[in-house]
Amino acid sequence: MADARQLIARSDELADGGKGVRFTVHWQGEQAAAFAVRHQGVVHAYLNRCRHVPTELDWQDGRFFDSSGLYLICSLHGALYRPDSGLCIAGPCSGRSLQSLAVEECDGHVYYLPDPTIQA
Ligand code: FES
Repeated sequence: MADARQLIARSDELADGGKGVRFTVHWQGEQAAAFAVRHQGVVHAYLNRCRHVPTELDWQDGRFFDSSGLYLICSLHGALYRPDSGLCIAGPCSGRSLQSLAVEECDGHVYYLPDPTIQA
C-alpha cells in the first residue's frame, strides 16, 4: 500500500510559537489551505479557515501566532484560538474550533496524514 503521508516541512522549520508552514490539502473534494505550527514542542495542524468568516487566518504569510506567541490569531477580526486544540477562546467565533488535521513528526520531518474518509 502506498504511503499516503504528505511531507509538509522539516522539523527545524517550525520553531515553538514561531512562524507556521502553509500547505494545501484535498478536503471534501476540493483543495483547501492548511497550516502547521509548533506549540510547547508539539506540531499542530488545521485548515486555514477562520470559524467566524471562512477566511485565512495569517496576517502575513505563515504568521499565525499573536504577539504573545501563545495563541493563534485571525488577521481579520482578531479571534484567538488555542494552538493545541484549535478552540476559539475570544472573539466573534468563541467556543467554535478550527478543523484539526492529523500530523506526525518523524526523523526530522513533519507529515500530514490524510483521512481517507474525509478526503473523498
Ligand atoms: S474572520 Fe476571523 S475573526 Fe472574523
